[in-house]
Parts: sequence; C-alpha cells; structure tokens
Amino acid sequence: MQRRRLGRTDLEVPVICFGAYAIGGGYWGDTDDDDARAAIRAALDAGMNAFDTAPVYGFGHSERVLGEALAGRRDEAVVMTKVGVRWEDLRGADDFEMLDATGNKRKVERNSRPESVRVEADQSLERLGVDRIDLIQVHARDPRTPVAETMGALAELRAEGKVRAIGVSNYSVADLAEAKRALGDVPLASDQPQYSLLARQIERDVLPWARANDVGLLVYAPLEQGLLTGKFGVERRFAEGEGRAGKATFSAENRKRVNTVLQTEVAPIARRHDATLAQVVLAWTVAQPGVTAALVGARNAEQAGENASAGSLELDPSDRNAIERAFAKVKLSRPARWRGLLGRLFARSR
Ligand SMILES: NC(=O)c1ccc[n+]([C@@H]2O[C@H](COP(=O)([O-])OP(=O)(O)OC[C@H]3O[C@@H](n4cnc5c(N)ncnc54)[C@H](OP(=O)(O)O)[C@@H]3O)[C@@H](O)[C@H]2O)c1
Repeated sequence: MQRRRLGRTDLEVPVICFGAYAIGGGYWGDTDDDDARAAIRAALDAGMNAFDTAPVYGFGHSERVLGEALAGRRDEAVVMTKVGVRWEDLRGADDFEMLDATGNKRKVERNSRPESVRVEADQSLERLGVDRIDLIQVHARDPRTPVAETMGALAELRAEGKVRAIGVSNYSVADLAEAKRALGDVPLASDQPQYSLLARQIERDVLPWARANDVGLLVYAPLEQGLLTGKFGVERRFAEGEGRAGKATFSAENRKRVNTVLQTEVAPIARRHDATLAQVVLAWTVAQPGVTAALVGARNAEQAGENASAGSLELDPSDRNAIERAFAKVKLSRPARWRGLLGRLFARSR
C-alpha cells in the first residue's frame, strides 16, 4: 500500500482509504453490521488504515459501527470524521432531507457555528469511542456562518487535544483560501471533493489550488458509487428505497455507456495487470497529481481487500492516458456531478 503525507500535517494516510458512508445504511439500502465490522478489520489487516465517516452517515450509525470495529486496534487507525451537518438539533434552515435506515426522510441542515461544531466533536468522540479524532472536516460550507468562526472553534479543539488535524469538504477555492488564512500557523490539512473518471470538475480549480497550497485532497466516490466497478448491468434492479435507484448517473442508458468503455478499454489493461476493473479505476484516481488519497466505500471484507490491493497497483502513463481518452468520449445523459447527499447545496455554495 502506497502512503502519503496529508498536506502539511504529520498525518500519513494510505492512498486508498476506507469510506464509511455505505455502512451507515439509509441511502444505501440494507446494511449488515457484522459485514461492516469485518470490512473494517480486513481494511486494517491490509494496511488500508484510514477511515472516513460522518455523524450524518446513518444518523450516528456509521460512527458507532466504526468505533466498535476499531475497539482494541485504535492505535493502528487514522480516524477521520466531520462536523457541520445536523439532524438532531434543527434551527429552521431546513436545508435538505436524507433517508434513514427505515427508508424515512429526515430533515438535515448545515450548521458550522462554533458552539455547534464543539457539541458535534464531543458526540463523535463518544460514538467512536476514541479520545482524539485524527482529522475533523467541515462537511459542507454553511452559508450562515463565517468560515473564520468555524476555523477558530476547530483550532481550539485542536489545542485542547480533541482533534489532531483540521480539514474541510466540498469547499470552493474562495472558501478554501479563507479557511487557510483563518487557521494561520495551523495547517489546513485537506479538502474532500468528489472526483472520478466521470466527474473531473475539480481539475479546473480545487485541484490546482490544493497542489499550489500543499493542502491534501481526499477524493470521494471514486467508483461513482459502484458504477465504475462494471457490476451494474442494464438488467440490474435496485432495492426499493435505495438512493441509487433514483440517481441519473445510474440510468440504464448511462450504465450501458459506462460498461461498454469499461469492457472495451479498461478490461484489457486490467487483464495485463491481473487486476479488477475497480482496482484499475482506483489506481488511475490516486495517480492523478494533487490527489492524496481516494475514499472508497466497502460493505464487506471482500470489497475492502480488493480496494486495498489497488493501493499497490501502479499503471504506466500509457495505460492512464488510454483510460482518460476512453472516458473523455463517455457522454452521460446527465453529468455525474454529485446529486445525492448534499449535491444541490454544494452547487449553490460554489
Ligand atoms: N464529503 C462528502 O460530501 C462525501 C460524499 C460522498 C462520499 N463521501 C466519502 O467518500 C466515500 C466513498 O464514496 P461512496 O461510498 O459514496 O462511493 P464509492 O466509493 O464510489 O462507491 C462505494 C460503493 O461501491 C461498491 N464497491 C466498492 N468497492 C467495491 C468492489 N471492490 N467491488 C464491487 N463493488 C464495490 C459498493 O457498492 P454496494 O453498496 O453495491 O456493495 C460500495 O457501496 C464515502 O464512504 C464517504 O466516506 C464523502
């Protein structure tokens, strides 16, 4: 597993990190907690020892399962969670809704006020069962709170030893610059944007800014929620209530287009490397200059092991160019910009 330093911090992360959104359930349909805990332990065994979660993933469930799975092995792990999206203390902003484990919609809102992020950090420490969070990230820009106020509160949490490093997620370049300025001598560790072969928008702004400013990038949904594994044939039906069912990226037409490119262009490369399609896609992702690591969701030990192995796969430039050329020709009926969890809001706050 290749490893990299996260921005200017003393944190080191594997190039493939474990994304713990899917194990929270809700949007992702049924989850099995035993499988989830086994996936987390398999990840640790394979050196994929950094875990990204958030309070809102399964409304606390993802953090709790992660904490249980890490019991006795906390020292081996880099624990990364978030603040800034609340469901249990609503203040009337009524930003959007998310599915809970029973398929019901619940109101959720962004809140990055200093007093709110403090409460959330304490709740996360409790749910995770740890005494320090390695990386705390603001989940999404709260337009009602100045960036500097949030950063001030997070810097205090760091000074108190409750968090080790500070990052953000889904921030525009202007907000990133403001966060960095507000933190002063404390490094802004990272941003967490969406990035995949089907969603390369950050190459225009966030990615060059992060490289120039030595801020890490932990990119999310690199497999486009599984679409880029090639496992979703046109005949596949999604479970009722599963979020992917209503996602434009997963229309039968789009699945056909993506699978055609995967089979004709990526499969020969995968065969030459004795790798899977998912591993080649992940290896391409983490080879992009400026990307520190890819956050990849896994629901069982098999997926976790397969994804971890991608962290040792190196593609030569000709393979990477061939993959890029092939995907440049894929025109989805709607672009694969994130439309799930916070998509509408991110689009508005950019
Ligand atoms: N900051 C943000 O706003 C934000 C937003 C989204 C995600 N994230 C982070 O990024 C992480 C990754 O994103 P994501 O989970 O949305 O999408 P992803 O990593 O692109 O896709 C995850 C899904 O892909 C499938 N998968 C993964 N490995 C596989 C394998 N080896 N073989 C076959 N299928 C495989 C699984 O689907 P099945 O469910 O069908 O098994 C899994 O649930 C999240 O867990 C979260 O930590 C952050």
